[in-house]
Amino acid sequence: MSVHQAQNAKLTPQKLRQMKQDGEKIAMLTSYDYTLASIVDPLVEMILVGDSAANVVCGYDTTLPITLDEMIFLGKGVVRAAHHALVVIDMPFGSYQVSQEQAVGSAIRILKETGADAVKLEGGEEILPAIRHMVHAGVPVMGHLGLTPQSVHQFGGYGLRAKEDAEAQKLLHDALLLQEAGCFSLVLEKIPAALARKVSEQLTIPVIGIGAGNATDGQVLVLHDMLGLNQGFKPKFLRHFAELGDAVRNAVSDYVSAVKELSFPNGQEQY
Ligand code: KIV
Repeated sequence: MSVHQAQNAKLTPQKLRQMKQDGEKIAMLTSYDYTLASIVDPLVEMILVGDSAANVVCGYDTTLPITLDEMIFLGKGVVRAAHHALVVIDMPFGSYQVSQEQAVGSAIRILKETGADAVKLEGGEEILPAIRHMVHAGVPVMGHLGLTPQSVHQFGGYGLRAKEDAEAQKLLHDALLLQEAGCFSLVLEKIPAALARKVSEQLTIPVIGIGAGNATDGQVLVLHDMLGLNQGFKPKFLRHFAELGDAVRNAVSDYVSAVKELSFPNGQEQY
């Protein structure tokens, strides 16, 4: 077991860029509530309040249903816990695709109402005008390419992206455009490791991978997945760093037995 304590100072986009230049890997995890974010915050450089909350918090099959109000509600709790990590909040489906004005309005609401440091949104060239508008308004923006779960119905599933040359070329082109538009960082999800390496080498902004090999500047995972809470979900790229699903089940079962056999509460556990 190892305990890694990241340094105390609050992380900034500038510090993350410096880490890339120094070859120091960036660790990012999702969080959706105050209690778990308090544990995660001192250990990682970035926390993502992902719209994966739609799956792991709300139980939806896709990320599409979660709303801007719901993301803001979750983000508030995480931000209260985060004294060290840079907090990024996902812009949910439907909160930025309609117009540039809608995108800037949603991003400003997220930053003002939660106190988060940045927002993330999915897509390349097609959302470039919105990203430029947001950056111009002073919003730190993280891009997201490769498997973009908000487009699941367009892709027809959650398979590996950019296997073919044409899609790989487009992804590299989009990544360069996002950097040029002012994104401070980029997530690459579920693409071949060789392509992720190429993108990371060509960009000066930090590239964070999930299912994209180990040559990116950092990694991100969904907290519930890496803790083994979501036992039905085990894609090839995912490692369970704990089996908390089993631990929670055993604890709950022990509690129920103790209640039923009157061993809880005992003499010391009452007033
Ligand atoms: O919503 C999320 O958790 C994400 C990560 C998988 C990158 O976007």
